[in-house]
Amino acid sequence: MATSSSPPRVVVVGSTMIDLTAFASRIPRSGETLVGERFQMGFGGKGANQAVMARLLDADVVMVNCLGDDAYGDMTLENFATFGIDTAHVYRVPGASGVAPIWVEPDGSNRIIIIPGANHELTAGQAARSVQETPDAAVVVGQLEIPQEVTAAAFAAAREMGASTILNPAPAAPLSDDILELSDWLIPNEVEFEMLTGVPPDSDDALTGFARETGSRLLVTLGDEGAALVSPGLDRVIRIGPPRVDPVDTTGAGDAFVGAFVVGLASGLAERDAVRLGNACAADSVTRPGTQSSFPRPEQTERFLAEIRSSPGQA
Ligand code: RIB
Repeated sequence: MATSSSPPRVVVVGSTMIDLTAFASRIPRSGETLVGERFQMGFGGKGANQAVMARLLDADVVMVNCLGDDAYGDMTLENFATFGIDTAHVYRVPGASGVAPIWVEPDGSNRIIIIPGANHELTAGQAARSVQETPDAAVVVGQLEIPQEVTAAAFAAAREMGASTILNPAPAAPLSDDILELSDWLIPNEVEFEMLTGVPPDSDDALTGFARETGSRLLVTLGDEGAALVSPGLDRVIRIGPPRVDPVDTTGAGDAFVGAFVVGLASGLAERDAVRLGNACAADSVTRPGTQSSFPRPEQTERFLAEIRSSPGQA
């Protein structure tokens, strides 16, 4: 692990998408055509979003991903370059890059369909090699927008190198035994938690029970309720609320949380303070439209970090 004085190296093995977002007064019914209010195209994909959020907190970020040979692929590479994200392990194949049509309603809630395209062409061998060729990685982060066996191969390489592994099991899907065994941390949201366990994350017993069953550290994000962290001894659930904000677009808030939490943890913050950093970045992001474009910029992230460091342990 890096010390608090050197930025941690974070490897994200995951997806990129071009987000095609329609803002509308409501979601149309089947067979209905609705006149929307606004359209926004931007950079997304849960992996890319988490990589960008980590970079906005000054982490040294390596992205491992597969793009198509289309214009969206070129644009995505340029976007990573703008942020200073290392793309030496971004591969390209003939065909289409990932896209995500998104609908956002006036309360900021979103519905997303992903069309993975080239994201599903990344191989287990490429993922493992990319991690092995990244010395000093503090943490390897994965999601479920690329095949699970590919993420599992990256996590196996991370384990061998002594890096931590963090899985954001999104979008929700049953988890293979391999990936469960290789994940040091699981960070589902409430929908994903319910899909994985069959019960909502309302009771402490549900949370501690799942953590015991998987053997992974568990942190569940709860939207405007913040997040619930299961203690290492499985004897306590610490619920940490976020700053109150008026949401305009919640797309990518979970990714802002994960990217920020990972950097907080790898930088040596106490776990609950890393959760506060995740909450602060996620809450701030929902006050602006778009996905990566809504994430707090370095002036803001430095302020969040300074506030948390000056009042450690305050939920
Ligand atoms: O988590 C939000 C993201 O989910 C969007 O950027 C979209 O691309 C999908 O991957």
